[in-house]
Parts: sequence; C-alpha cells; structure tokens
Amino acid sequence: MDEEQLHRIANLPKAELHLHFEGAAPPAFIRGLASERNVDLSSIFNPDGSYAYRDFVHFLSVYEAATSVLKTPQDFGRLCTAILEQAAENGVVYAESFISPDFCGGGDLGAWREYLHAIQEAADRAEADMGITLRGIVTCIRHFGPEQAKSAALCAAETAGDWITGFGMGGDENKGNQRDFAYSYDMAREAGLKLTTHAGEWRGPQEVREAVEELRVQRIGHGVRAIEDLAVVDMLIERDVTLEVCPGSNVFLGVYPKLSAHPIEKLRERGVPVTISTDDPPFFHTTMKQEYTNLAQCFGWDEEIFAQVNRTAMKAAFCDEDTRAKVLKKLETA
Ligand code: HPA
Ligand code: ZN
Repeated sequence: MDEEQLHRIANLPKAELHLHFEGAAPPAFIRGLASERNVDLSSIFNPDGSYAYRDFVHFLSVYEAATSVLKTPQDFGRLCTAILEQAAENGVVYAESFISPDFCGGGDLGAWREYLHAIQEAADRAEADMGITLRGIVTCIRHFGPEQAKSAALCAAETAGDWITGFGMGGDENKGNQRDFAYSYDMAREAGLKLTTHAGEWRGPQEVREAVEELRVQRIGHGVRAIEDLAVVDMLIERDVTLEVCPGSNVFLGVYPKLSAHPIEKLRERGVPVTISTDDPPFFHTTMKQEYTNLAQCFGWDEEIFAQVNRTAMKAAFCDEDTRAKVLKKLETA
C-alpha cells in the first residue's frame, strides 16, 4: 500500500465505540492534577512520562491510582474536553465512552448527577467547537463485585436518556461470572438502555456465549476469543452481536503476540460485525489513526473496508435515530 493511500486511510472520519473515559486521560493531564493536589503518583509513571505497569491486573490498579486524582465534577469536565480534543484530532466524529459512577461520586446517585452534568456540558461544547458527538455508557466494574454494580446500574437507570444510552461492564474478566451481574443488566435493560460487556479478551469463547445468553447484550467489548469456537462465532452472526475490537490493546497486553496473529480479519471475513476502537489509548500507546494505519498495513484494509466498519459501528451505536443518521451522513460525505 502506498504512502498516499495510508495517509488517506489514517485521515478517514471514524466512529469509536469502546473508549474508557479515565483510560483516555493523557498522562500529563493526570500528572498535572496530581501536582495540584499534592498527591505523589510517581510510581505509576515511567521516566519518559508514560503510564507504567507490568500486566493487565497491574494495569487495572495503576488505572485506579491515576483515576484517584480526579476528584470533582469539574475535573471530569476538563477530562472530557481533553479526551474529545484527542479523538477529534484523530478524525473521530462519533464516540461512546465508558463512564463509571464508582469513580464519579462512589456510586451515589446525587453525586453522579453532578458529575454527569459537568461531563455533558463539556461534551456539548466540544460538539459545537469540534463537531464530535459523544454518548455515555454507564459502566460497572467487575472486580468490585455484583453488589457494587447495582449502584452503578441504578445510576444508569435513573439517568438513561438521549445521552446516557448504554450500560456496560469493565474490569477483571477473570473475577466472578457474567451471570452474577444479571440483576444489574436487567435493571438497565428495563430502563431502556442498550447493553455491552467485556468478554472474550482474557477468558475464552464460553465467556462470550454467557454474556450474550445471560446478560442479553447487543455488543461485546473485545469478544475476539470467540474465534476459538466457531459455534460461538455463528451465534454472534445469527444474533447480530457487534464486537468492539481493540486490536492495539490486545497486542499491547499480550492477548496476541502481534497484529498479524489477531483474529479480527478472520472474524470479519466470516461475517461477524466488527468495529475498531482504542480502549485506553495512552495506556496502550495507540490512537485511532494508528489503529487504522496498522490494519491497512497488516491486512491490506482499504477505504471501502474502513467505510464498512464505520457503517457497522453506526448501526450498532447506542444513540437515537436522528444522531445515527446525522453521523452516517458525515461519514459518507467524507
Ligand atoms: N479492560 C477492562 N477493564 C478496564 C479497561 C480495559 O481496557 N480499562 C478500564 N477498565
Ligand atoms: Zn475496554
């Protein structure tokens, strides 16, 4: 593929469905807040200023340490602006982000409303200034357990609407089971929210099946290890479950040794709806431009394939129909 085509591909308009709000925080932003608050966070940074961690479980604890300096609704509003500036620079025109009441007021509904208000205000400003649209997915944290998840689900249900449009779960996939969170997912579904959960990143295809059957999710975060059981792959196709694939994250964390070993192309070829996201971009040293460039170079994806992937993303987006149509038009006229 020539330089000119790679440049065009990197600059395509993009939709991104899987982005952790705190995980998108630039390290300099977190360091700045830490020094304002006199918190010593030196242990979570490398000498070059990047986030330092050994493996996935350590990543989750560094993530929580970084997040601990985000204290007020204003902090989250500022973070929202920083995230959307970066996304817009990468050509993202529509994003959905995982936001956790656990980090925004500790699961208290009144506090959550204040955090959400500040985030939404920043998102509205970014939409006016940069033409990027954001929607929120309220997210519970698996390793905090099913009881704590109920507080997140209640926050989600009580603020469900045009902006909070989904409910999800992140955290340590090796703790507990998807079905332990069925109560929270039922509450979210009854409030009209769309559903997703992290599955099939660290555990195998059975985890993906359980997520679809027990939590009745429309999308799966990662889900890539479904490829290890073709019956699960067929189930995803039959039920039109969309995968939020984060190739750079999977390679950085060692789920696959290199991009050429990643199953995204096999999944796409078989007909699974796949989309492209960054997960926690500064933690995994990636950006949406980088993801597109890598996929083009590794699998020969051209503009038509990326256009299809973006249409898949907007079909699976958890937004209202007006927003969907508006974003699709933006993606198509580019
Ligand atoms: N995976 C799972 N849980 C998370 C992540 C992630 O990449 N980021 C924050 N919580
Ligand atoms: Zn994730």
